[in-house]
Amino acid sequence: MAEIELRQLRKSYGAFEAIPPIDLKIGDGEFCIFVGPSGCGKSTLLRTIAGLEDASAGEIMIGGEEVSQRHPGERGAAMVFQNYALYPHMTVRQNMGYALKIAKRPKDEIRTTVERAAHTLGLEDLLERKPSELSGGQRQRVAIGRAIVRDPKVFLFDEPLSNLDAELRTRMRLELADLHRTLGVTMVYVTHDQVEAMTLADRIVVLRSGRIEQVGSPLELYDNPDNLFVARFIGSPSMNFLKAEAADGEICLSEIQGPPLPRPEFVPSDWRGLLGVRPEHFELRAGGMEIRLRAVEHLGGVTYGYATLPGGTELCVDLQGHREMAAGDTVALGIPSERAFFFDQKTEKRLR
Ligand SMILES: Nc1ncnc2c1ncn2[C@@H]1O[C@H](COP(=O)(O)OP(=O)(O)O)[C@@H](O)[C@H]1O
Ligand SMILES: [Mg+2]
Repeated sequence: MAEIELRQLRKSYGAFEAIPPIDLKIGDGEFCIFVGPSGCGKSTLLRTIAGLEDASAGEIMIGGEEVSQRHPGERGAAMVFQNYALYPHMTVRQNMGYALKIAKRPKDEIRTTVERAAHTLGLEDLLERKPSELSGGQRQRVAIGRAIVRDPKVFLFDEPLSNLDAELRTRMRLELADLHRTLGVTMVYVTHDQVEAMTLADRIVVLRSGRIEQVGSPLELYDNPDNLFVARFIGSPSMNFLKAEAADGEICLSEIQGPPLPRPEFVPSDWRGLLGVRPEHFELRAGGMEIRLRAVEHLGGVTYGYATLPGGTELCVDLQGHREMAAGDTVALGIPSERAFFFDQKTEKRLR
């Protein structure tokens, strides 16, 4: 068990600065997820913590010790990769025990440790199989098992579920959450999938071009995004953004007719920008702004309506149980101003 602290950690590839200096603390036992679009530096940051990449500057503390000059195997961190990296010619038992064998641990100890890990992961019956005789989910578990036997202070995961089909991904997500509860160990996990981040993380770190945009619990980020980038990234379906401006103490939408919203005090009288509204925060009410539904999606528990505004803006609206609605219908929407987010056009920051 250990906390991780990054101090002014920086990583460049030649002249390209993949990670500008960042500071971050990850608590002991925390499930921390780095999330962001492809190419934003998630893997680079994780691999630098693991020691698979050399830091260009700064310090990496794991369990109170500065490890940035140590070899990957000597940092107390175990990495689980997306492609599992299992040895095809070895059985599950051999794969899981390999690191211990290399470390010249006694045979008895290796057997006990591997079998205990296999029990934790529900792999007891598969120990004599080869990776080719396993399903994707089982392989993923073996990859995790290989990390567990090393009894690391921290686990590092790089998109471990992205090669699995949707159903298996959901199941493995629950297994990982269980595993985190069982082991109580610090986990750092990289994904571009915001649903994974929302469901697994104690804390999410949103990255953009190697910089930290915001750090917070899933619901903190959902309810209080600091800026447009985070607001766009967190939440599925995504937040809606309507062009709007302040006029005469009110907020008017630029693309569509409708009753103006009252202007909250923190919004300047000359504000112009984007009004953010989550799909579930629209009210369906007479006299609201009228949109024509282009498509309706029934997910069973929830029904979404989609519309394109005259200016081209796409809207997604939770139709709040109105299963009778269909494409072509007109819906009148209200926006409760206390639920709306106000983003500055230039800085993209949220006003509050
Ligand atoms: N070995 C490398 N040499 C040069 N540039 C790299 C190298 N590895 C990654 N990069 C660049 O660093 C940035 C971050 O990459 P990466 O950490 O893999 O992103 P992510 O994991 O978020 O998709 C990208 O622009 C990528 O092209
Ligand atoms: Mg990556």
